[in-house]
Amino acid sequence: MKNHCSIWCPASVSNLNVGFDALGFCLSDVFDVMHFKRVDKPGIYLGALTGYSVPDKASENIACVAAQSLLNKYNRTDIGIEISIDKRIKPGSGVGSSAASAAGAVIGVKTLLEADFSDQELLESALDGEQIASGSRHADNIAPALFGKICLIVTQESHRIVPLPTNLDLHYVVAHQQIEIKTSESRGALPNEISLKTAVKQWSSLAGFTAALLTDNLELMQHCAKDYVAEPVRKASIPHFESLQQTALSSGAFIFGISGSGPSVFALCEGQTTAAKVATSLNRLLLEQPIAFKIYSGEIHQQGAHEIL
Ligand code: HSE
Repeated sequence: MKNHCSIWCPASVSNLNVGFDALGFCLSDVFDVMHFKRVDKPGIYLGALTGYSVPDKASENIACVAAQSLLNKYNRTDIGIEISIDKRIKPGSGVGSSAASAAGAVIGVKTLLEADFSDQELLESALDGEQIASGSRHADNIAPALFGKICLIVTQESHRIVPLPTNLDLHYVVAHQQIEIKTSESRGALPNEISLKTAVKQWSSLAGFTAALLTDNLELMQHCAKDYVAEPVRKASIPHFESLQQTALSSGAFIFGISGSGPSVFALCEGQTTAAKVATSLNRLLLEQPIAFKIYSGEIHQQGAHEIL
């Protein structure tokens, strides 16, 4: 068992238009850092909190709830852990801020204890944390934050995570306008039911997108990456959505959409040169608008939350 460790906890983009609650990928250039320290008193405690504000009460803090959930699966009652959080991913940004905390927490506890938890145990405990943030156990940010890559989440009674390999040279661009959209409210605005016609379009598109990714078929991916469910409702709450979309696609992105529940939007590009062009165009467009913003760009990260030295 270690006395302390530090964990890199990545942001993520979920939904990818076509897979509401079912697809997500891991970012490489946006992350939190969390520090874990053994303490004498049994339980989970908060230490220093820096960066963006997070709840300072353990029972309301996503990282503490996820960490406690995993600790409950460990066969000892004498373990005490203090968690310090450097929160660099803005909450309510649409790039999995809560999932980064939850995933980082369970990887931190596992690393500190040098224990052999299964991927399923890590996932379920991280979801216990995600649930207090968004009121729901969706794993489309948690899975890539834990395991990296592009992940497909097969949701039935429990979640099964399928990492989707591809030989395509995929680079993302994320534009984050600095307004806050709460996932729980954004989910509440979605319809409870969709028509059979819409469902057929969406599930055939997700199947096509997955097949395209596995066979490196960029054209089919682009054809399939459509959101018939959430985007029609959510795009009105994202300033300049249509101009951003038009700019990204005309600069060479092959997919553009809302990142999670927004306000961030994402573009996927083949190759770093195209991604740089898309980032420059989105930057130029947003500089003309009054809302503060940030642009992120990089390769889909192959590794999720992990120890840093
Ligand atoms: N799939 C989720 C949603 C992601 O769109 O509501 C946000 O956490």
